[in-house]
Formats: sequence, C-alpha cells, structure tokens
Amino acid sequence: MAVRLDGKAIAAEIQADVAAHVEAEASRGRTYTLAVILVGDHPASATYVRNKQRTADKVGIASQLIQLGEDISEAELLAEVERLNADPAVDGILVQLPLPSHVATTEVLQRIDPQKDVDGFHPVNAGRNFVGLDAVWPCTPAGIMEMLRRSDIDVAGKHAVVVGRSNIVGKPMAMMLLEANATVTICHSQTPNLEEITRQADILVVAVGRPNLIRATGVKPGAVVIDVGMNRVDGKLTGDVAFAEVELVAGAITPVPGGVGPLTIAMLMANTVCLGEWRRGVGVN
Ligand code: GUN
Repeated sequence: MAVRLDGKAIAAEIQADVAAHVEAEASRGRTYTLAVILVGDHPASATYVRNKQRTADKVGIASQLIQLGEDISEAELLAEVERLNADPAVDGILVQLPLPSHVATTEVLQRIDPQKDVDGFHPVNAGRNFVGLDAVWPCTPAGIMEMLRRSDIDVAGKHAVVVGRSNIVGKPMAMMLLEANATVTICHSQTPNLEEITRQADILVVAVGRPNLIRATGVKPGAVVIDVGMNRVDGKLTGDVAFAEVELVAGAITPVPGGVGPLTIAMLMANTVCLGEWRRGVGVN
C-alpha cells in the first residue's frame, strides 16, 4: 500500500516558512503585495482565487483582487496589467486563467512585467528557467519539486515520466525534473501505448485532466505517483489517477483533493516573496 503524500501538511510547512520570513521583514518595514486579476465568473477560478487570497492573508502577504467583467476588452485588461506593473507596492501579478476566448492569453501574459510575473509564465521567465538563470518557476511544478524534496524522495538518476505538455505544468515540470538530474520522458495525447511508457516510471507526474487515465496496469510497483488532475465527476473533485487501485501498486501517491492543489498556492506565496526580494534588493542575474 502506497504512502500518501500529504500536500496539505507540506503546504502548511512551506507557508510557515514564508510567514516567518514575511514577519521578519515586516519588522524592517518591508511588506509584500500580491495582485490577482479575475476576469468573469468562472466558478472554479473564483474558488481558486478565494483560496489564494485566504492563504496570502494567513502568511501576512497583502492581496489585491481586481475583478473584471467577462466582457472586458483586451485593451482594458492590458491597461489594468500596466497599472499594476507601474505600482511600486505590487510585488506579484497573477492573471487567473482561463481568460474569456475573445482575449489573447499570450498577449496578456506577455504584458506582465517579468519582474512581477509570479506564475513564471512570461516568455522571458520561461526562457530564463530554460537556460538556468534566476526566475521563479510556475507554482504547480515548483510545489511538486518541493514536495519531493521535503518527503526525501530522491530524483537524481530516476526515470521520471510526465504525462501532459502544458505551459503551466507539463513542460516546466519536465524541465525541473531534468535540472534535478532525472531522466525525463514527456507523454501527451498523441503518445501511442501510453501505459508501456508510464509503467517504466520511477516518478510519474500526470497533468492531463482526464479521470482514470492512469490505471494500476500503467504503474510500476513502488513508483511515486503525482496526480495533478482536477476533474469534477458527479460534483466530486477527482484526479487523473484511478486512486483506489493505483494506491495498491505505487510506493507513494498524492490524493485529490489534498495533494498538489495546496502546494500550488503555497508556492505562489513563496514566489511573491522571492520576486519582492529580487526587485527591491539583490536583482536577478
Ligand atoms: N489556472 C489554473 N492554474 C493556474 C495557475 O497556476 N496560474 C494561473 N494564473 N491561472 C491558473
């Protein structure tokens, strides 16, 4: 039976570290602010944003919520981003995705000042990460790496298989695992014989958005299985991994909910502080 990797508990540890740092800096008169732009009334997005604000409050980071109507024009949204870019009090800017289809997401993400890009989605930061320069990594893969580290799961020399190739999770996840000296395979919707490959994984990260995509037959005994899926099935949140059967085969596994989700938010706080430090002090090199 697999060990359950408790994302909630690890996120609480990360939050406590961030809170201690924020408190120490507050005594020197330094504060941190995260600005979140939410467009429209996508219910899942509204929930995520609420959780982000609640966590910011818990760790002592000020948050600003900019709520904009679904029918806002791209130009108006870009103007809002520019306003936050120019505000010296704002350390991190997050535009909650997905955006309405009439807005070009890439245009909006490219308009965020790279020094305030708390998601690490700006092409400058994606590029910096790609070549090993300082930049914050996207929060979900960063949270997964932190979970592996804090759970004493060694990555070097392991075969890591990432299923999914999004800019938010799959691609940066693969890069981070590579940086940590894993041998990395990326699978996606066009990969034939998916199970043949996932069965070779010592570390399997699944970020597709399809319930029950990974069955016990696709998991090597003893593997570490990280489920990034967030699917609603009959009103219940479920991942991409058939948890009940995979738990019997894997060595360690993240539940959904309570696995990767809380880590993403904790890393958002850590990234906000990191950007604040860089912008005001050390600077990126
Ligand atoms: N929507 C789903 N995940 C994310 C994320 O990590 N960042 C942003 N900005 N939007 C998201």
